Amino acid sequence: MKYGFFDDVNQEYVIHTPQTPYPWINYLGNERFFGLISNTSGGYAFYRDARLRRLTRYRYNNIPVDNGGRYFYIYDDGDYWTPGWMPVKRELEQYECRHGLGYTSIMGERNGIRATQLAFVPLSFDGEVHQVKLQNTSLQTKKIKLFSFVEFCLWNAYDDMTNYQRNLNTGEVEIQDSVIYHKTEYRERRNHYAFFSANRPLAGYDTDREAFLGLYNGLDQPQTVAAGQASNSIASGWSPVGSHCIEITLEPGKETSCNFILGYVENPEEEKWESHGVINKKQAHAMIAQFADETDVKQALSELRAYWYNLLSKYTLQSHDDKLNRMVNIWNPYQCMVTFNMSRSASYFESGIGRGMGFRDSNQDLLGFVHQIPERARERIIDIASTQFENGGAYHQYQPLTKKGNHEVGGGFNDDPLWLIVGTAAYIKETGDFGILDEQVPFDGNVERAATLFEHLKRSFYHVINNLGPHGLPLIGRADWNDCLNLNCFSATPDESYQTTQNLEGRVAESVFIAGLFVYTGPDFIELCKRRGLDEEASTAQAHVDRMRAATLEHGFDGEWFLRAYDHYGDKIGSKDCEEGQIFIEPQGFCVMAGIGVEEGLAHKALDSTRDRLETPYGIVLQHPSYSRYYINLGEISSYPPGYKENAGIFCHNNPWIMMAEAVIGRGDRAFELYSKIAPAYLEDISDIHRTEPYVYAQMIAGKDAVREGEAKNSWLTGTAAWNFIAITQSILGIQPEWDGLRIDPCIPTAWDEFIVTRVFRGDTYVIHITNPQHVSKGVATVTVDGTLLTNNILPVAADGAIHQVKVLLG
Ligand code: BGC
Ligand code: NOJ
Repeated sequence: MKYGFFDDVNQEYVIHTPQTPYPWINYLGNERFFGLISNTSGGYAFYRDARLRRLTRYRYNNIPVDNGGRYFYIYDDGDYWTPGWMPVKRELEQYECRHGLGYTSIMGERNGIRATQLAFVPLSFDGEVHQVKLQNTSLQTKKIKLFSFVEFCLWNAYDDMTNYQRNLNTGEVEIQDSVIYHKTEYRERRNHYAFFSANRPLAGYDTDREAFLGLYNGLDQPQTVAAGQASNSIASGWSPVGSHCIEITLEPGKETSCNFILGYVENPEEEKWESHGVINKKQAHAMIAQFADETDVKQALSELRAYWYNLLSKYTLQSHDDKLNRMVNIWNPYQCMVTFNMSRSASYFESGIGRGMGFRDSNQDLLGFVHQIPERARERIIDIASTQFENGGAYHQYQPLTKKGNHEVGGGFNDDPLWLIVGTAAYIKETGDFGILDEQVPFDGNVERAATLFEHLKRSFYHVINNLGPHGLPLIGRADWNDCLNLNCFSATPDESYQTTQNLEGRVAESVFIAGLFVYTGPDFIELCKRRGLDEEASTAQAHVDRMRAATLEHGFDGEWFLRAYDHYGDKIGSKDCEEGQIFIEPQGFCVMAGIGVEEGLAHKALDSTRDRLETPYGIVLQHPSYSRYYINLGEISSYPPGYKENAGIFCHNNPWIMMAEAVIGRGDRAFELYSKIAPAYLEDISDIHRTEPYVYAQMIAGKDAVREGEAKNSWLTGTAAWNFIAITQSILGIQPEWDGLRIDPCIPTAWDEFIVTRVFRGDTYVIHITNPQHVSKGVATVTVDGTLLTNNILPVAADGAIHQVKVLLG
């Protein structure tokens, strides 16, 4: 069942009922100010850091789901309602939500009033614009009142939920003209405030939650709105809110609009005050003035749309498959940008208080957006590398505001360092900017202890080599990519975290996955050594890679597939000899992507076993059989009920590794079949089963052993976005950035006749027309660029800023 449709021309997903199977959300903001907004106006906003600079409150685990947002109530002659349906839930005669790229528009109509809330964060603007348009669709004159509503968060979202001894006393506001200023803690140590403005004179306002709602009322029944009368309350402690009350008279057929700005301002210490106790509002006034009129909003929205159009134009596809086109051209790159901005910090599932930017997560996210904004990828790489330890290990996470490693989580995840090589290599291949390797980058945030980025990569590489186990395979540490495979943890205490609790010394448990990752990215490090003239370094590294490949073949293959790991006792995990968890997806993907066992025919076996044992109609499960009981030697993975999350859920993040592995061995039909099994646009018709948004990937779909097979969870912030983008654009469609050019090497379904990719690469535009008259999956017969035949399948960098016509013949 569908709840909307894709409007490809406008690059929007259009939802035609507020009662989607789960809140279907969108992200606002590109640089510093961000918001989340659902199809019923729920959500919240923050400045840069979802924990430390939260502007508005949002309650997780709320009842009903998705309660709290930027709401606009319409009071109409005793009746009141909200255009997004929630929170009042009064029946609407019409409803439509359009989620676009960086903006959302929600329209509701009731009793002769059509109201549309348009929400976005303009470019280079530290605030959200909410424009509310009201149209009288009746034959009578309408006299209505519009009440806005936001609930302010007392900045630190964690404190805001926990420290009530303090919180109930600190709230402070100022009101001037039509602007409500939230200035809690500004008096002492903060230099920032929020404001909520309206570009109309007010009939009244409220800034105290209790006065606005009534102590025992929910957001569905604010007492002021019900009475059609603001109470002009001034918050003092308790819970500050912002609500404007505006009187509007509309003749039949007439339309009007109000602009509301929810903004954030920081003042320099010496300019904090206008006069004693009165905050300096200069910057707020300037921001408000930018959106004085309706046309200002229109203009800013079209600039935002142009910005996105430009970003998405870096890679576009024309194919016979609309679903594929919309994934590749719009929604997947869009999700990649959102994961770049957020990492795993703020979504409807990540509260934005527990997790900063992940070391491995951010490096992988980078793969999906580096072609869109390489300069920000560069900055990100340096930020991530700056948190690395001198021994090559890494903090698992860092805070975006401070750019410091997160001590609470610490390090010890032995795959982490390698992702820095993966991310940096992707950046250099995209840009040709080898100069980044000479940047001086601190260790552990300490500028006095700095070394070149190249040195950081070297430490990453040797962190693996310095931590090998009994079989010559990498020690796993706390965990590898699979955070829940905790082989040294042995936790029997419910209150400790599997990821951070004291581990055993653990110099036995090894990861075949890390071995695969090492052999996959080792050649990148070797190539960089060579290009720096470090031939000896390169050949030493090559020897390590060769040894790792041999160790994987010798100790990491189990007859029909790659093993997953060795545990603390040196026993096999992911082996036919195991009672449960006999085969895991991760090493089948990464070892084959690394080319291990391809010549020997083992890669085929591994992928056939994956198909036979792990594949389901909804995707590939993480392992099989799922764990039916808790194994203390395995940790969190066996703590999940069968079929969920890492315990045999379909982890969408690593399905593309199998697509890419299938492409390595040339099976294009398989690669694409797997792609379309989990790509959300293909799941639109089963939205009632799938439940999360049909325009973005979710982290997990419940697997075959789950009670609710096929049901997705945790949409938006997942490495799934980046890897699926790489799988489709590079492995399947076959446009691969390389050190010295663009390699063309598709691996497609045999039925495909042709497709065209337009790719911007290092300033040039390549229009690549690929034809497949012989209906092969893989194999490039000829390539011509602007009519000239190439001797291989790598497009050299033209560096002339021109558009180049490329014809590729498969066969
Ligand atoms: C989740 C993992 C996640 C880990 C770290 C676990 O509870 O299952 O998917 O990687 O926490 O946040
Ligand atoms: C989510 C985490 O963010 C990611 O780092 C990890 O690789 C996966 N879960 C798998 O456990």
